[in-house]
Amino acid sequence: MNLNQQQTAYLSDTYNRMEQKFRAECHRMNGRIPYISIDGAYPTWDESMINWWTNGFWGGIMWQLYHAENNSDYMSEASCLEEHLEKAFEHFDLLDHDVGFLWLHTAVAHYRLTGDPTARQRGLRAAAVLASRYCPAGEYIRAWNRPGLSQMIIDCVMNLPLLFWAASEGAGDHYRQIAIHHLDRVLTHIIREDGSCNHIVEFDEATGEVLNIPGGQGYGENSSWSRGQSWAIYGLALAYRYTKKTSYLNAAKTVAHYFLANIALTDYVSLIDFRAPADPVYYDTTASACAACGLLEIAEWVDELERPLYEKSAWKVYEKLTHDFSDWNPDRDGILQYGSAKYHRAEDRQVPIIYGDYFLLEASLRLQNKAFLIW
Ligand code: GLY
Repeated sequence: MNLNQQQTAYLSDTYNRMEQKFRAECHRMNGRIPYISIDGAYPTWDESMINWWTNGFWGGIMWQLYHAENNSDYMSEASCLEEHLEKAFEHFDLLDHDVGFLWLHTAVAHYRLTGDPTARQRGLRAAAVLASRYCPAGEYIRAWNRPGLSQMIIDCVMNLPLLFWAASEGAGDHYRQIAIHHLDRVLTHIIREDGSCNHIVEFDEATGEVLNIPGGQGYGENSSWSRGQSWAIYGLALAYRYTKKTSYLNAAKTVAHYFLANIALTDYVSLIDFRAPADPVYYDTTASACAACGLLEIAEWVDELERPLYEKSAWKVYEKLTHDFSDWNPDRDGILQYGSAKYHRAEDRQVPIIYGDYFLLEASLRLQNKAFLIW
């Protein structure tokens, strides 16, 4: 993106603060896996949570910084996390559609950056887990492991690059076909005509018939959970990168336009849900940070006359988040404040969450043309 002098200086200043803070956190983490920072500190890590879907993001932060800074401390920390994740494979029955978030950010990033053969094996194993969740009648990848329920969710689109990667590593073209079938069902069952998205669609697994479209992590049924919208923007833009199917890019753009129209009402930071009651006001900055990366991904694939819409919007989001919603004190854990995992749980609302920091860092590096493609 072409930035003016003032923007370049701002970007450089915010990135330097980010890197300084992550460096301090890296020394404090020392092998722990961060999730939500409470009162400025990541709590003691609970080993029994090793399968939790966010456990890869700290690795993604470390690999991005290793790539940008060439500092081996970041590589050591990322490798340590990857070793811990071996235990997640032992609890195979707890793994779900989010295995991409766990291993794209760790083993696959490690392999892409260093060619490490063990890391490659781990990535391929994770891809096999994801592919094994495919439900042929409905042509979707099953989310979660809820007994008696077969559901697809929008979040899964961010995990599909694991299948595209595995196919490119010789795992078989069926990995790619599974990803494409799932993406086609996202277009028919998840993206609504106005550009918003469903979070969850429930199926009869045997026939592929849609049974129900329940509420998810947003306000409720028929609402518009902002992180789900941001997963769609970024996930569908990445799907275009891997397939060059214009229907995916067009869908990413449609959801992006819906997202931008909504965040324009709240000065470029997203609410948890765009169809929640006006009161109380709850933010989810992680949705904005993820969307900024998605907007920059779209910008890579549109022509020069369209590009400014996506680049300038991403910049506005980045500026808002780094100016008004970031804690730069290196002695406290967590940069991006006001992240929300879900609408209806107070402990998970308006707190610093590790994936918010990941996407903020990725947006910063993308704006500097220094990002490494984790996806
Ligand atoms: N499973 C991803 C999310 O909660 O957004």
